[in-house]
Amino acid sequence: MKMITCIAPINMAVIKYWGKRDEELILPINDSISASLSTDVMCAKTTIVTSALLKENKFWLNGQEQSFDSPRLTNCLRAIKKRADEKLPHLHWNISICSENNFPTAAGLASSAAGYACLVYALAQLYNIEGEISNIARQGSGSACRSIYGGWVRWHKGNSPVGEDSLAKQIVPADHWPEMRLLVLVVNDTKKKYSSAKGMAITTLTSSLIKYRANEIVPRRIEAMEQAILNKNFQSFAELTMKDSNSMHACCLDSFPPIAYMNEVSHSIIQLVHLYNDYKKELTVAYTVDAGPNTCIYLLESEVEDFLSIVNFVFPNNVDDNEYYRGLKLPSIRPLDESIVKDLNLSANKEGLLKYIIYTKVGEGPRVLDDSKEHLLQDDGLPKHF
Ligand code: DP6
Repeated sequence: MKMITCIAPINMAVIKYWGKRDEELILPINDSISASLSTDVMCAKTTIVTSALLKENKFWLNGQEQSFDSPRLTNCLRAIKKRADEKLPHLHWNISICSENNFPTAAGLASSAAGYACLVYALAQLYNIEGEISNIARQGSGSACRSIYGGWVRWHKGNSPVGEDSLAKQIVPADHWPEMRLLVLVVNDTKKKYSSAKGMAITTLTSSLIKYRANEIVPRRIEAMEQAILNKNFQSFAELTMKDSNSMHACCLDSFPPIAYMNEVSHSIIQLVHLYNDYKKELTVAYTVDAGPNTCIYLLESEVEDFLSIVNFVFPNNVDDNEYYRGLKLPSIRPLDESIVKDLNLSANKEGLLKYIIYTKVGEGPRVLDDSKEHLLQDDGLPKHF
């Protein structure tokens, strides 16, 4: 019997992956860049058990048993096993997988990226696989390949039709830009959206803008973003981040039928960011939005207090502070200066437009948890907690 438990980070893209050139192998039409976020705040956790006694393969996700036959899971497992030593006895035993996110999936954050990165990383440990595994994680969910590394990561789209060169590489580790922080503004919204897989398929098929984005805009922007990160140039970083988020959502709207992930609250946060940057006479905060209405703010630690006091004024909440503010310890939250309210002509919205705020930072990649108390499965391959 063998058992392994690992955790892996979620990531937040600043140059977005949107569009595939191969649906089955999950090969993208452009490079993308993201930061992996601290696993102390949000992570996926996966335990895998393998034993000669297991009668069948099993998979639980967030407490629910799942089919073991999904093509994405099957592809990852096949690709991992192909890399393992045939002579490993346990390579041919059945496995039980149990995976959990330590943050609500309702947060609409890219949980599949962390989930597949964690699964593939854990499988690689189980079967003693060394070397590149990001191109295997990619086959579970495209953005998962970036969660295989910590810090700032670039996914190179690659040119091979079979995808062996479509993999992630770390640009710099997490401690390269230690002041960088993120505020995830989780928007209250229950409307069902297209999944990112479905959305990007519609865009790739129907939008003419996406071709211009993938062939002209992103190749230039990605180099500029890498430089901005290497030089810790927040002005350039912020401008590229916001423009790239806008470009992805413009391609979504250019799809047929049009796809709108952002809602009115996301748009008003974006307006607020521009207003605030104009007031500060430089770019001090940057927004970016994925395939949902939640709006993520990249900013330096020194800006958090000021920006949060504005967000709290414009989006008042009626929730207990311990529920509302999650993640890292925030600086004291103070009321907004009357003069700023006047200068910016701010007005407060009705209460409750934001569900909660997660405060986090750039963090490390996946790792093994050695303490047996961390395991999610028992020796018999069944979950500890149902
Ligand atoms: C908007 O990686 O979830 O978050 O490859 O189909 O699983 P699949 O899609 P997924 O798409 C993520 C899209 C995005 C942008 C990004 O993370 O780069």
